[in-house]
Amino acid sequence: MRKKIILERVTIEEVAAEGKTLAHVNDRVVFIKGGAPGDVVDILVTNKRKSYFEGVPLSYHSLSPDRIEPFCAHFDTCGGCKWQHLPYKMQLEFKQKQVIDNFERLGKFDFPTPEAIMASAEEKFYRNKLEYTFSDSRWLTKEEIASDKTFDKNALGFHIPGRFDKILDIEKCYLQPEPTNEIRNWVRQYALENKISFFNLRKQFGYLRNLIIRTTTTEQTMVILQVTENRPEIMEPLLTELNKSVAITSLNYVVNNKGNDTFNDLEVINFAGKPYIEETMAIEGSETLLTFRIGPKSFYQTNSKQAEHLYQKVKSLAQIKNDEIVYDLYTGTGTIANYVAHLAKKVVGLEYVPEAIEDAKVNSEINNIDNTDFVAGDMKDLLTEHFIAQHDQPDIIITDPPRAGMHPAVVEILNIVKANRIVYVSCNPATQARDIALLSELYKVETFQPVDMFPHTHHVENIVLLKLK
Ligand SMILES: C[S@@+](CC[C@H](N)C(=O)[O-])C[C@H]1O[C@@H](n2cnc3c(N)ncnc32)[C@H](O)[C@@H]1O
Repeated sequence: MRKKIILERVTIEEVAAEGKTLAHVNDRVVFIKGGAPGDVVDILVTNKRKSYFEGVPLSYHSLSPDRIEPFCAHFDTCGGCKWQHLPYKMQLEFKQKQVIDNFERLGKFDFPTPEAIMASAEEKFYRNKLEYTFSDSRWLTKEEIASDKTFDKNALGFHIPGRFDKILDIEKCYLQPEPTNEIRNWVRQYALENKISFFNLRKQFGYLRNLIIRTTTTEQTMVILQVTENRPEIMEPLLTELNKSVAITSLNYVVNNKGNDTFNDLEVINFAGKPYIEETMAIEGSETLLTFRIGPKSFYQTNSKQAEHLYQKVKSLAQIKNDEIVYDLYTGTGTIANYVAHLAKKVVGLEYVPEAIEDAKVNSEINNIDNTDFVAGDMKDLLTEHFIAQHDQPDIIITDPPRAGMHPAVVEILNIVKANRIVYVSCNPATQARDIALLSELYKVETFQPVDMFPHTHHVENIVLLKLK
């Protein structure tokens, strides 16, 4: 057996990437899963690399004076809100630093001092979407194992970090407003009482697979239940009873027997209510209240209230004039495009998911916006010189790609198009820095603005204004 390495009485210094913490031991960096800056801990080394170690706290000698009491009973086991033990102000400082670190490490371009990070007004119940997983392999905490209670082996909740097959049964989650806890607990109880099988993630069998709940600030609720087989004798009574018990605007299900939970390529069956929900957003400095229709497959910024501030900032950085053409890349349901349309001559929105593009068109229609154009396709194939010739040369490009950032072919075409300004919104400063480096010969980073969309997590959003040199 390999000898365990334990580092004794180490003082944790700061927060590092991916929500880990960091310390130095004999000039070697140690990344630690958990802990807080200021804690003095013994660390069990779990991974030895040439230039750094990775480890977990084994025992605590003293706790950081900065620590605060986490508010959730599932904290430390659930991977969801890893930073509940750190004051929000400190979380914001770490996020700001994370963006700068990424830009310094991966950017290799000049950039100004960032604006102070925009805090989220809501620190709890800020999410509008959660995805719960059913499992017949419930994760039991050390305390649960040590207790003499017996527990049902079925669970409905969140994945244990690093364990694809084990699910933590969630009683109350503080991320999304009600009725999220009410619906999840109702469905679990009904399934247990009626002996409906929960999915086995390892062997891929069982009926109930996944439950998605979306909410809006207008108090509308969408439910999407994923099951593995079309069995109306189970599904119909379940959804009928659920619909009677909780007010649901859009109740849907998907039969998914694939190897993963994504359902963009599957039919979503609307069981009751509307096939969409509607969110509203005020346009800053105007009387207009936009309505956004969101279908089951469409992306919508997960923190709705902070999304409003995000879009205000995008709008103010873009400085759109009424004779300018704007492209909104990765437009989702056309939210940014419709938000800025009143300022521009025309906005062209591009997006991969055809259903989201259909929603984007409807969103223009229901808001009486007639200067938008939405096209569906994979960005790397869609955004070509031919497309630009057909849809007018953009003066301003707003881009908001997924975590992976932009495909190199997309960055290449941006370098050919040479729009005057690019506003780059990103939920991953590492891929954003990589992409900006590829644009930096032609573009100068004028401003950058970190935004916190996800309190108590290490995730940070960042908006960068690039100007053609
Ligand atoms: C971070 S979201 C941004 C959505 C939108 N800008 C908003 O604020 O709601 C990224 C969007 O990119 C889309 N997307 C992902 N990969 C894509 C690709 N290869 N081509 C086009 N769109 C893609 C996703 O479907 C998603 O709607």
